[in-house]
Amino acid sequence: MARTVDWDGSDGGAVTAIDQRALPGEYRILRLATVDAVIAAIADLTIRGAPALGAAGALGVALAARRHPGDPGRVRAEAERVAAVRPTAVNLRRGVERALARLDDGADAVVAEACALLDEDEDTNRRLGRRAADLLTELCPGRPLRVLTHCNSGALATVAWGTGLGAVRELAGRGLVEEVLACETRPLLQGARLTVWELREMGVAHRLCVDSAGASAIARGLVDAVVVGADRVAANGDAANKIGTYALACAAAQSGVPVVVVAPDTTVDHATAAGADIVIEERAPDEVRAFAGVPTAPPDTPVYNPAFDVTPAALLAAVVTESATFRGGAWTGSPADALANAGSAWGSR
Ligand code: MRU
Repeated sequence: MARTVDWDGSDGGAVTAIDQRALPGEYRILRLATVDAVIAAIADLTIRGAPALGAAGALGVALAARRHPGDPGRVRAEAERVAAVRPTAVNLRRGVERALARLDDGADAVVAEACALLDEDEDTNRRLGRRAADLLTELCPGRPLRVLTHCNSGALATVAWGTGLGAVRELAGRGLVEEVLACETRPLLQGARLTVWELREMGVAHRLCVDSAGASAIARGLVDAVVVGADRVAANGDAANKIGTYALACAAAQSGVPVVVVAPDTTVDHATAAGADIVIEERAPDEVRAFAGVPTAPPDTPVYNPAFDVTPAALLAAVVTESATFRGGAWTGSPADALANAGSAWGSR
């Protein structure tokens, strides 16, 4: 599989992306040659998942720098447009800000910084996957695990490898996965379309369930651990992830099943004190009023369509990053990341 998002330096530069709207029916790579095309791809979830959004954000700035050399004001304006497309996943703005920080050094430096972010992604994900797998085997010792996951936190949600699903991939490599139960993830079916596609590619045993079956699967003892990614983790360990994660965590708490959030340091926002401070993206009503283009509700039905919810840290066994762990009400691990995050201006936006 190609990188989920990448830089193509030919013909003045472009962003390439696996078209996640087309999966699982078709695997195709798009070439996005304008900032507007990158913005549209982020908005319609051609590119989605927090770390992949971070990469797309950095690449969007690289594209802007290439298109408007000598006009830093225009590049900054374009960068802000990219950063504003989706508000919840902190990685998007972080990716934008990281590339933009090199603007004074010229377009080549901006492109190089964006490419460096991409190059780091797989290694970061492999490291956090190993740490999460170690913790999961500690929490659920002595047997291959039955894991429930929600949305898609795999390679498609990152540049490569994945976070939550990367931990599952690591566990599977150790022979420690019995089955993954994947929630379909209405309304846009990231679980059914993308996670199941990835699990098939990995050769990991899995079943798909409707979202409303997740809680009862946990209650019936079919799940050893819930493993998910995150779009933003607050300083107090509260975690925003795909809508429906909170309900699964409530069910898991009721049954004593551990919920582990797996995310890179760049998803932890120490400038956001608590989950209540996280802006939750609301998406278009038609995503709920229709299914695959077929109306499923009367036209103009008022809709509540939050893309994410917040799971309080109290319901989580742990948040695991590549360098830190939030467990039992406190962070342990690399203080460098906590300090860097706390000192950043954009973290509180
Ligand atoms: O709306 P999406 O598909 O971008 O939502 C993605 C999720 O909620 C993922 O679980 C999250 O970004 C973690 S991915 C490593």
